[in-house]
Amino acid sequence: MELSHLILNNESEVRKNFNRLSNDKKVYVETYGCQMNFSDTEIVLSVLSKNGYNETSDIEESDVILLNTCSIRENAENRIYSRLGDLIKYKKRNPDLVIGILGCMAERLRKDLLQKKKIVDIIVGPDEYRKVPELIENSVEKGEKGIAVKLSRTETYDDITPLRREGITAWLSIMRGCDKFCSFCVVPFTRGRERSRSFINITEESKRLYDEGVRDIWLLGQNVNSYKYEEYDFADLLKNVAAAVPGMRVRYITSHPYDLSDKLLETMAEYDNICKYIHLPIQSGSDRILKLMNRLYSVKEYMRVMLKAREMMPGIGLSTDIISCFPGETDDEHKMTLDVIREIEYDSAFTFVYSPRENTKAFEMTDTLDEETKKQRLDEIITLQREISFKINSALTGSVMPVLVETLSKKSEDNFMGRTDCNKSVIIPRNFSSVDMSGNLINTGFIKAGELINVEITGANSATLFGNPVRKNETLSKS
Ligand code: 5AD
Ligand code: SF4
Repeated sequence: MELSHLILNNESEVRKNFNRLSNDKKVYVETYGCQMNFSDTEIVLSVLSKNGYNETSDIEESDVILLNTCSIRENAENRIYSRLGDLIKYKKRNPDLVIGILGCMAERLRKDLLQKKKIVDIIVGPDEYRKVPELIENSVEKGEKGIAVKLSRTETYDDITPLRREGITAWLSIMRGCDKFCSFCVVPFTRGRERSRSFINITEESKRLYDEGVRDIWLLGQNVNSYKYEEYDFADLLKNVAAAVPGMRVRYITSHPYDLSDKLLETMAEYDNICKYIHLPIQSGSDRILKLMNRLYSVKEYMRVMLKAREMMPGIGLSTDIISCFPGETDDEHKMTLDVIREIEYDSAFTFVYSPRENTKAFEMTDTLDEETKKQRLDEIITLQREISFKINSALTGSVMPVLVETLSKKSEDNFMGRTDCNKSVIIPRNFSSVDMSGNLINTGFIKAGELINVEITGANSATLFGNPVRKNETLSKS
């Protein structure tokens, strides 16, 4: 036992010295939470790569472990605390290992982390990622605990090219922070004030990504509709990017209903390469609760935008976020949320039970609902939404839809996963052959990531479509 421990220590010592000498230091990163965090991880990796660090997917060989964290709900934070417990064994084997907490928890829980989680060496908030290499070095060289959690009014990392993994899809952050102050949400406290990246730089980055083989970009922000750079708003940006890279699919996430303008809907309708998909969090179907949430719109105003989007762009994909059991939510108010889900018939919804967050306005409100009621209300929402998603997806069986092939399916290397314009994921066999109604072979081949192909939908569940490729000519001759 002791001997193996010794050997492990020696091994890590040798590796560590080797890594230092070769200037090949290994960093292992785990990212939790929203797409903004995944995009931020690419920025951190870019900063680190300029300082001699390479990413590794093997935690055992890492010199630095970083957790990019989320604070949105209590269970997201609990997951990180428990993950820190798992990391103790790596630190015991290699005391020089640097463990860092990045992101929203760094901002929110710095004191708690420093005092109670001794294995944490550096704590870096979302606006201080340029300092990560320096803080790591100080920890290694001087054994100093590093903490950098100042929020900035200007930092957008506009000059940093994120270190992206190869693939067809790329995240492109366009703004940071949030000024909306919904009463339940920690984001304005953990990510600070809204600020937008340069209009020109975003457009140039889109062009570069296209040249590098990306065919699908997501414009990202906590609230993209608040994008404001000089005289340009978000609709102007979307239009400019869509026109600059006509061969690229362009999508965005996430929007706030308060400032989703008609101009934006018109821009979406005008450009074929802007995906017909809107994720618009409603949170609740009750005006009283929306007011308590400080959401700045009524159910009627929300419905107008969604129904207008559908009228202008038939077949558009619509999804939402819902918080069930906000403090004081009555049974009738819960039913109002179910009514909105029935009326809009979302393609999908992300549903959460309200989680109290310290320092927010809602934290002061009395939460009277018992756990049983909370579970029951959430179950009702999930079940209803599943039925609707299944109904919508099943109705697509037999139709032919253009699908952009993205990656190998997570479940089987024999299949690819692609997405429709309205953001539905479709599983397609990698090698395919299909026959016509008389049993004649009409279609064989392989598909590749990045191809836009016509797919005949052959099956569906509430989350996914299944289909077979149909080459363009066959689609035309069939119809
Ligand atoms: N409790 C539960 N869900 C929350 N969200 C944000 N804050 C909370 C909270 N305190 C949800 C909202 C938001 C999504 C990203 O997370 O629905 O749209
Ligand atoms: Fe949070 Fe509201 Fe801002 Fe979204 S819009 S990040 S829910 S405060």
